[in-house]
Amino acid sequence: MSEKKAILKVDGRDDIELPVHTPTLGKDVIDVSSLTGQGIFTFDPGFTSTASCESKITFIDGEKGQLLHRGYSIEELAAKSDYLEVCYLLLYGELPNAEQRDEFVSTVKNHTMVHEQIRNLFNGFRRDAHPMAIMCGVVGALSAFYHDSLDIKDQKHREITAFRLIAKIPTIAAMCYKYALGQPFMYPRNDLGYAENFLHMMFGTPCEEYEVSPTLARAMDRIFILHADHEQNASTSTVRLAGSSGANPFACIAAGISALWGPAHGGANEAVLNMLDEIGDISNIETYIAKAKDKSDPFKLMGFGHRVYKNYDPRATVMRESCHEVLNELGINDPQLELAMKLEEIALSDPYFKEKKLFPNVDFYSGIILKAIGIPTSMFTVIFALSRTVGWIAHWNEMISNPYKIGRPRQLYTGETERSFKVLGDR
Ligand code: ACO
Repeated sequence: MSEKKAILKVDGRDDIELPVHTPTLGKDVIDVSSLTGQGIFTFDPGFTSTASCESKITFIDGEKGQLLHRGYSIEELAAKSDYLEVCYLLLYGELPNAEQRDEFVSTVKNHTMVHEQIRNLFNGFRRDAHPMAIMCGVVGALSAFYHDSLDIKDQKHREITAFRLIAKIPTIAAMCYKYALGQPFMYPRNDLGYAENFLHMMFGTPCEEYEVSPTLARAMDRIFILHADHEQNASTSTVRLAGSSGANPFACIAAGISALWGPAHGGANEAVLNMLDEIGDISNIETYIAKAKDKSDPFKLMGFGHRVYKNYDPRATVMRESCHEVLNELGINDPQLELAMKLEEIALSDPYFKEKKLFPNVDFYSGIILKAIGIPTSMFTVIFALSRTVGWIAHWNEMISNPYKIGRPRQLYTGETERSFKVLGDR
């Protein structure tokens, strides 16, 4: 840590000297952790100025539009790697050599099946349940199945849990889809790649062999890579916070899935397609742009804006290319994509969006690709959860393997001061 210091002046007190930490990349961080001992707290709703932890996994430069996993750019990873290799990188900090890669892939494949009892859990849900509701329930329920490996202080237990989660999440995700359709659940096929197997479980049936298109498998794999991790976002912070109490990892990941569900986070790709449906036609774009700019109107352009990126989201650039590739290869001429392109063009040249640095984010395009693959809108956030599971588990593991404290923020209390209780008749 560095020699830099910050001086805090508070009326009526001596100056307070605070250490300033210099990261390997990014902005200096003032360490305010000693303030509580001096009877002062900082106030930062939404944690916009607060680093909640130290981490070595992912770096984002929002102004530059840069995203690095363990030092490797997302553009390079999306072009040259595949999802399971990125999982290895996020979990272990380095790219695997050939032997490590084979072993990792084979271990993940050995864990793809879920306990047969899990099938029964599905029957408790209505057929029209949102698949994210089922995901929260079923992933949380995994804690009841793996008592053999719930000692969070044991590194081997944490590792096996990571394998189980990465391997079983696609199986559970596909089961959510099949349940809604009323089709039989498909068992995983371990001779297939990770994305291929997911498509097989989604679209295969026991009556007919399902040929997985390599183009779609590659597009799916790229979507998994682009969503794999994004440092201390709302769902990852939720996983860390839940984990900081010592809760078991399956419960923590279920908490992450819940946080991801909201339309301001993982629910945005579903919201983008719903919004495009609502806009309906290029001729209506101006009206919706005006609604997005109107403070008295709650409407926001879904898929635009990001807490951290104040430039093009680098994942959106890759996703945009991938989107065109997929649609070209499939020969799909999608009017929704045309509408999306026009919306992007108009929004990017509008002073409101320019001044507020609102650019399309990853979700602006992912929904269109997912739709082209044949995935229904309600499954979009599930696919995000599937991809992000490795990021959640990598962050949870990083936290548990190092000294940490239970996450317990303070507050700026603005409620009533102490008063006497009034009995019922006196109120
Ligand atoms: N459309 C219109 N105006 C917007 C939008 C938008 N999509 N996003 C932000 N703004 C405006 C806000 O109204 C605010 O205006 P003000 O300064 O006049 O009050 C300003 O831009 C700053 O926005 P904040 O909401 O303060 O930014 P914040 O960092 O809190 O929110 C968020 C980021 C939640 C992503 C927001 O941009 C949003 O809701 N976008 C739409 C939903 C979306 O696409 N979410 C996906 C995020 S990416 C992901 O999870 C993978």
